[in-house]
Amino acid sequence: MTLIAVWCRHKDDNVIGIGPHIPWHISSDFKRFKRITQGASIVAGQTTYESFPNRTLPNRKIYVLTFDQNYEVSDKENHFVVTNINDLKDFDGTLYISGGASVYKLFMTSSSDLMPDIVVDCMYMGDLDPDLKGPKVDITPCIEALGVKYRQMSQDYIEDNILTRVYVKKGDFVDQSVMKHIITAIENKG
Ligand SMILES: NC(=O)c1ccc[n+]([C@@H]2O[C@H](COP(=O)([O-])OP(=O)(O)OC[C@H]3O[C@@H](n4cnc5c(N)ncnc54)[C@H](OP(=O)(O)O)[C@@H]3O)[C@@H](O)[C@H]2O)c1
Repeated sequence: MTLIAVWCRHKDDNVIGIGPHIPWHISSDFKRFKRITQGASIVAGQTTYESFPNRTLPNRKIYVLTFDQNYEVSDKENHFVVTNINDLKDFDGTLYISGGASVYKLFMTSSSDLMPDIVVDCMYMGDLDPDLKGPKVDITPCIEALGVKYRQMSQDYIEDNILTRVYVKKGDFVDQSVMKHIITAIENKG
């Protein structure tokens, strides 16, 4: 299994959401995420899953983390309920960790077999949407772990005020085809 975390955080404070919303509206951010995860499997917390339009993302299998064993997904063929992250240890293939904050923290601070092999760290350098109300959600513990346990493996990419860097866990041997896919998805704008 190759585990990859993909997030976009705000510079300095590491905020990724206000209430259930992403506090910026940059279409290239969504497009980059789509290119990276297209046709793949992602894992998302129940709050993030509920925030997807119609509780789905086309052409992706979604593993929804929830403590609720009776949780009903919107698409029973392609979405799956996971109540214990340890069940993902046997996952076969590539799995993209797609938020929200509790899920990023769960993986980034977990035992080494569930710690992401690769992190796509996008950092938005503009201002947060001033009209959004609600608690700010940040991933500071993840960024601390990133600084200690990972090394940058890509150049810096800047698009629409978002700086993107790809990190690999120190000591990890990373599947080069996965790495190539991610870099291509970042570079192929549009
Ligand atoms: N900027 C970005 O890149 C990005 C990406 C994704 C999301 N976000 C933002 O992140 C925010 C949401 O983050 P969040 O932390 O509030 O919610 P979340 O991580 O999306 O979901 C939280 C839910 O996940 C389930 N869960 C968490 N840990 C679990 C565990 N160990 N086992 C089983 N289930 C578990 C629980 O569901 P139950 O309550 O059903 O048990 C929990 O309430 C929103 O603002 C969203 O817009 C930002």
